[in-house]
Order: sequence, then C-alpha cells, then structure tokens
Amino acid sequence: MVVPGELDVPIVAAPMAGGPSTPALVAALDRAGGLGFLGSGYLTAEAMREQIDANRAAGARRFGVNLFVPDPADPDLDAAAEYRMLLGPLAARLGIDELPAARDDSFSYLDKLADLAARPVPVVSFTFGLPAVEHVRTLREAGSRVWVTVSSPDDAVAAAEVGADVVVAQGTEAGGHVSTFTVAEPAPGIPLLDLLADVRRRVDVPLVAAGGLTTGPAIADALGLADATQLGTAFLDADEAGTSAVHRAALKDPRFTETRVTRAFTGRPARGLTNAFIEEYDDVAPASYPSLHVLTGPVRAASAARGNGEGAALWAGVRWREAPSGSAERIVAGLAAEARKADGR
Ligand SMILES: Cc1cc2nc3c(=O)[nH]c(=O)nc-3n(C[C@H](O)[C@H](O)[C@H](O)COP(=O)(O)O)c2cc1C
Repeated sequence: MVVPGELDVPIVAAPMAGGPSTPALVAALDRAGGLGFLGSGYLTAEAMREQIDANRAAGARRFGVNLFVPDPADPDLDAAAEYRMLLGPLAARLGIDELPAARDDSFSYLDKLADLAARPVPVVSFTFGLPAVEHVRTLREAGSRVWVTVSSPDDAVAAAEVGADVVVAQGTEAGGHVSTFTVAEPAPGIPLLDLLADVRRRVDVPLVAAGGLTTGPAIADALGLADATQLGTAFLDADEAGTSAVHRAALKDPRFTETRVTRAFTGRPARGLTNAFIEEYDDVAPASYPSLHVLTGPVRAASAARGNGEGAALWAGVRWREAPSGSAERIVAGLAAEARKADGR
C-alpha cells in the first residue's frame, strides 16, 4: 500500500518505458525514501513479471508498476499505412529493408492485469486511459494502490470516480507521452501549476504533480499544491537508469535547443527534444497509436545504433537542461534538500 503521505521523501521516479526505468533505479528510489516505478507499458506479462522479480531481488520493497490503457477505438490503420510510405526514403537511407506493417497492439494489457491481481505489487499506475471500475476494484482488493495519470481536470474527476487512490496530474511541461484518455484528442496543454490548482478544487484524493520538475524550487512550488512529485527527465541521466547512450548524449548536446509535443514517433502526443525526424514528420503524422510506435521502431533503433540522435525519440521535459546526473540516491537527496531550502525550511 503506498500513497504519497507514506513516503519519507515526496519524490517519485516516473515510469519510463522503453529502457530508462530499471529495477536498479527503482531499488535506489526505495533506499532514498521515495518511490520508483517499472515502466511496463510495452512489456509482455512474462517480461513484466521478470522485471518485478528482478526488482525484488535488487531490494525494492516499495515500488509501482505502470500500464498503458488501450484505447477501445481502433487505430486508423489506413492513415498509418500512408505514413509508412512517407517513411520509406528515410528507412532506405538507414539501411532498413522493410518497415513493419501498421498494426494494433494492446501490449498484453489484460494478461498483465490478471498477473498483477494474482501476485500484487504495492502500486499499479495507469496512463493513456481510465482503467475499468472492476479492474481498479480487483487490484485494490488484492492490496495494491491504484494511481491514474491525467492531463486535464475532467479526467481527474473521472479517475476519482473509478476509485483511484491517487491522481497523477501531468502538466504540459512533462517529457514523454501525454496521458490523454483517447488517442484522437489533442494534448490539453495545461501548465502544471494551473492543472494542480484546478484538480485540487475538483477532486479529493492525494495528488502527485508531474511535468518539468528538475530543480528544487520547481518541486517546492508543486508541493504547494500536491502531496508528492513525479520526475522523469530528472532521472534520465541517473547512473542506475537504462537510458540509451544516444539519449543521454542528446540531453547535454547544445545542438538541441527546444522540446516539442509531437505524434511523429508513436501517433500519440509526446514531448521530446526537437530533432530532424520531428522537423520532417511532425506535420504529417496521424493520430494512430500504437501503430506508429510499431512502424517507427526500426527507424528509432537504427538511428540509435548509429549513435545518431536525429532519428531517435529523445523524450525530455521542458526543463531538461537543468536535469542532474549521478546516482539516483544523490539526485533524490539533492533535489529534496534544494526543495526544502526553496520552501524556507
Ligand atoms: C523517457 C520518458 C519515458 C516515459 N515513459 C512513461 C511511461 O512509460 N509511463 C508513464 O506513465 N509516463 C511516462 N513518462 C512520463 C512521466 O510519467 C512524467 O509525466 C514526466 O516524465 C514528467 O515530466 P518531466 O520529464 O519533465 O519530469 C515518460 C517520460 C520520459 C521522459
């Protein structure tokens, strides 16, 4: 059972699927008195369970697992097929014979839920949608706390109504994907402090703030309205993170000067460092998830393998330049101390 008030330090390492979240990072957050998450959104149920076991072997007692709620509307596969044609020349330049066909994928959502109900973990968090009431009930009865990530006040109300123990309010500053409840809707673009104030007024559950929190003063401001903070970008260059070399290098490369919210890589809005891929494909990328994630996989992998950040998804929040480096325990201690200082304590 974990709600923000039970943490020694109000800092959560965000789930970061696709590599950055590791059992070592999660265990370090537990030692530091915060909370870490496994980013299990893209994993099979078996791979998720292996990570959970590795997590426990690494010594983590308090931790969370994050899942992606599938959108019941079918992804627009025709639009994705057209996008596949547009990617053809780039794929050829990268030596990719053929891009995969656009397809749907729920990433074993129901299998993972069944596994988590049978072998519970302290926290299960959801993004990209509202979990069904019966799934929330089953997880809670099994002893887990349920967290739901939202990017708008209406979605926060809906999350409270299905029985979420905690609402994670994700401001537009956030790195990575925006948690909209459908693929088609645009990212609401609400700044974190505005979102927190609105959500506070409308729901009465513990709140976790996310988006652009890479410094102590920013964390202190968020804690004025929230019970804890969830940081992604601040842990991307942590020693224990599984962030790719190309991603770590890009975060420190002066060539990258801004972040942008784009559907170009996956078909869902997500914030990353603006690179050549985003410049070229942002305007033409359709709202079709996860088909575009599947389609661009080989492009992202080939680009990363060449050490070239121009075709990789370099997810980062707006305050990426201030993100710290070093061990996760030191990052947590440093940010917590800075936040207390900023708060005048
Ligand atoms: C590389 C990366 C991967 C992410 N993957 C996930 C994920 O799998 N699940 C999720 O709920 N949020 C994910 N997020 C979003 C975070 O939960 C959080 O909202 C965001 O990192 C907060 O903004 P910040 O990066 O400025 O701290 C990711 C963020 C980043 C930077």
